[in-house]
Amino acid sequence: MRRLIFLFIFALLHAAGALARINRHAIVSRYNPVRTASSDSTPMQVGNGHFAFGADVTGLQTFLPFAIMSDWGWKNDSLPAGMTQADIDNYRGVVWDGVQYMFDGPQPMDQWMVSNPNRVNLGRVGLLFLDGSGSTANVTENDLVGTRQELDLWSGTMSSTFQWQGEDVEVQTVAAQSSDTVAVTVTSPLMETGQLGLFLDFPWNDGKSEFEAPFVGLWNATSNHTTALSTGAGLGDNVRAAVAHTLGTTTIFTFVGGDNFSIARVSADEHRYTIIPATAGRSFSVSIAYTPGQIKSLPSVEAVEEDSQQTWQEYWSGNGFVDLVTGSTDSRAEELQRRIILSQYLLHVNEAGNTPPQESGLVNNGWYGKFHMEMFFWHSAHWALWNNWDLLDRASSVYSRFLPTSIQRAQVQEHYSAGARWSKMTDPTGRSAPGEINELLIWQQPHPLVFAEYEYRATGSRATLEKWRDVVRATADWMAVFAKRNTSTGFFDLGPPMYVVSEDTSPNATRNPAFELSYWRFGLDHASTWMTRLGEEVPEAWTEVKENLAPLPMEDGLYAVYEGIPSDFWDTPTFTNDHPALVGLYGWLPQTANVSLDIAKATAEKVWTSWNISNCWGWDFPMLAMSAARNGETEKAIEWLLHPLFEFDDVGMPVGGVRVPTPYFPGSGALLYAVAMMAAGWDGSSGTAPGFPSPTGGWRVRTEGISKAL
Ligand SMILES: *[C@@H]1O[C@H](CO)[C@@H](O)[C@H](O)[C@H]1NC(C)=O
Ligand SMILES: *[C@@H]1O[C@H](CO)[C@@H](O)[C@H](O)[C@H]1NC(C)=O
Ligand SMILES: *[C@@H]1O[C@H](CO)[C@@H](O)[C@H](O)[C@H]1NC(C)=O
Ligand SMILES: *[C@@H]1O[C@H](CO)[C@@H](O)[C@H](O)[C@H]1NC(C)=O
Ligand SMILES: *[C@@H]1O[C@H](CO)[C@@H](O)[C@H](O)[C@H]1NC(C)=O
Ligand SMILES: *[C@@H]1O[C@H](CO)[C@@H](O)[C@H](O)[C@H]1NC(C)=O
Ligand SMILES: *[C@@H]1O[C@H](CO)[C@@H](O)[C@H](O)[C@H]1NC(C)=O
Ligand SMILES: *[C@@H]1O[C@H](CO)[C@@H](O)[C@H](O)[C@H]1NC(C)=O
Ligand SMILES: *[C@@H]1O[C@H](CO)[C@@H](O)[C@H](O)[C@H]1NC(C)=O
Repeated sequence: MRRLIFLFIFALLHAAGALARINRHAIVSRYNPVRTASSDSTPMQVGNGHFAFGADVTGLQTFLPFAIMSDWGWKNDSLPAGMTQADIDNYRGVVWDGVQYMFDGPQPMDQWMVSNPNRVNLGRVGLLFLDGSGSTANVTENDLVGTRQELDLWSGTMSSTFQWQGEDVEVQTVAAQSSDTVAVTVTSPLMETGQLGLFLDFPWNDGKSEFEAPFVGLWNATSNHTTALSTGAGLGDNVRAAVAHTLGTTTIFTFVGGDNFSIARVSADEHRYTIIPATAGRSFSVSIAYTPGQIKSLPSVEAVEEDSQQTWQEYWSGNGFVDLVTGSTDSRAEELQRRIILSQYLLHVNEAGNTPPQESGLVNNGWYGKFHMEMFFWHSAHWALWNNWDLLDRASSVYSRFLPTSIQRAQVQEHYSAGARWSKMTDPTGRSAPGEINELLIWQQPHPLVFAEYEYRATGSRATLEKWRDVVRATADWMAVFAKRNTSTGFFDLGPPMYVVSEDTSPNATRNPAFELSYWRFGLDHASTWMTRLGEEVPEAWTEVKENLAPLPMEDGLYAVYEGIPSDFWDTPTFTNDHPALVGLYGWLPQTANVSLDIAKATAEKVWTSWNISNCWGWDFPMLAMSAARNGETEKAIEWLLHPLFEFDDVGMPVGGVRVPTPYFPGSGALLYAVAMMAAGWDGSSGTAPGFPSPTGGWRVRTEGISKAL
């Protein structure tokens, strides 16, 4: 009898879908992007997080030179005339009230340090069309018929099909996951008649443009760089040809192997090489690897394909998953699910390298290819909630790698000479670009405490406590010393000088901003808990600062951006046109001491009506959604996530909008963070999917392997 009852209940639950596993393959495949023409703004991509290959509709860069970029491909421009390494080492900026900052230093050294090193577009691979006599045919995309391109997300395989001169052509492109290699297979009767081949090309790259989108590098500055071809034995197992591409003091290698071919440089003053199959088969396959140095062996085409299939399948089946479409009746679930799946794909391709990602990932260049440490939270904290620890670990290790330079930065700024001050606009050596905002922004500082906390929640291990110990300590030491005791109030003040999240206030006037005060308290709390878990004493300075931080600034019963802001700031465009971090006080952040939930909610609602939302972009919308969700405004949370100004294109690229070029990946990372939080909840939330409207409101949310947010 008992058994029967059990079976009955089991059947009921099963029928309700509560026990069945999510059919992940069906949901993922449903959003395979399909194109019938090249986009003039975004590529379709394959890649592995360290390396990405952006393609036009042919699956290659045949017609449009979308970028092939990496986390390791960087170069320096030559130093300004007459300058040497010593000028970099001796660079000093300004002294403000006795503190040394790295900005407004001597030009042109200052600008060189901003724009160097810059990230390199590694090259271009295209389909070569040949006429009957073997000469290059002049073909444009319009000459192709029936063009169709599909990306199979489950295996990371891009397939393009079309007809040229009445014959079918199929191109398949996949990226290896354990090396920076693509495998390209072209299948066509035109292969047998010698009318198709491939070409390689290499652009000049320099730091003249801060933004390079949609394409990166110059193809006509051929005398500014060199390429050299090698063929024959001794280049590495499976390698038939290698091209060494030298830009200044950087040399990047391209290795090609697979089916036999002949390779030739088109002309001495170009960097274009043609690859012609040696034997007339219907199908021609090569693997092409990009590396910073020599290699022992090049993976075969088959090995690359297997690597891609296996890694993507594990990615989709092993980690966190959210299913909104199986049971929801709200028609918006479909678009939200599409954004989730495509963001999961694109973040793995673009944003899982050894350093934090740049805003545009590996698609094109912004800020010279550098990354911003304050944006690291939005790019990458979602990996923790979706349980992608292997991917997060790659870049979160920068905190220990950059610790020495960050300690040095704190020491240069003598008034704050304890601990480590984390950089803002950064290159892979950990050097911070000179700049007033770069030097005076502070909200990147507590981020490592968040990454550490999530990791400890996942492992619960002593090893995690030890691993982050020095970073946690140095981070909090600087936070404590940055807060200065105000002798007239007795409180510890943040700033001046400093920049707030929105970067739109005068640094000399900015004191005690509400968001940063809360984040400081949150950070010092977590750092203290960390020391207690380790069995170490919590430094007194941390406790003293934490307990005596200045009160949150208020104006007219609501929280204000900072203490002393003009009382009419809600009606002043100067203050209401950038990131509305006031909504982050409760939403992005959990409640911290001194935050009143009623006031936080009223403040968030005032932002909805008073901020210039049409000037918001990227992660602003998920931040607004998280605030709405924690405040119980679940319908509003959905509206923010699907706001018309928060767009994702047909392949899932987050559109830059009014402020920045496309893609702007902090929007994608923030979307996944918000969705995880809304679906799996946050500390102290109750019920399932507390951030979504209820099933009666049209939403059925199922999760697997998603963790609660803080
Ligand atoms: C660029 O120059 C800086 C300063 O000398 C150096 O630290 C860095 O390693 C160089 N990077 C590259 C990619 O050459
Ligand atoms: C900010 O303060 C510094 C140091 O006192 C001063 O040099 C600078 O000119 C001030 N900037 C503005 C915009 O007032
Ligand atoms: C190739 O064809 C395009 C379009 O028909 C034309 O504009 C261009 O001049 C041609 N280029 C060459 C090198 O013949
Ligand atoms: C090189 O190409 C760029 C655009 O890619 C163009 O702006 C520039 O004028 C070209 N330079 C020369 C010398 O043709
Ligand atoms: C190429 O190098 C020359 C000589 O150094 C320089 O004057 C020119 O600006 C460079 N061109 C580009 C496009 O960087
Ligand atoms: C590969 O093709 C080239 C050019 O056709 C030919 O010279 C060479 O012998 C071939 N190599 C092999 C190993 O078949
Ligand atoms: C101390 O705090 C008061 C009130 O916030 C402020 O007006 C004053 O400038 C602060 N003093 C210093 C030395 O920063
Ligand atoms: C903020 O909260 C802390 C801890 O609850 C308390 O000790 C402190 O007095 C509060 N500060 C203000 C200004 O309200
Ligand atoms: C609001 O943002 C839009 C879009 O960027 C801009 O055109 C407009 O001037 C802004 N309005 C105000 C009042 O600043």
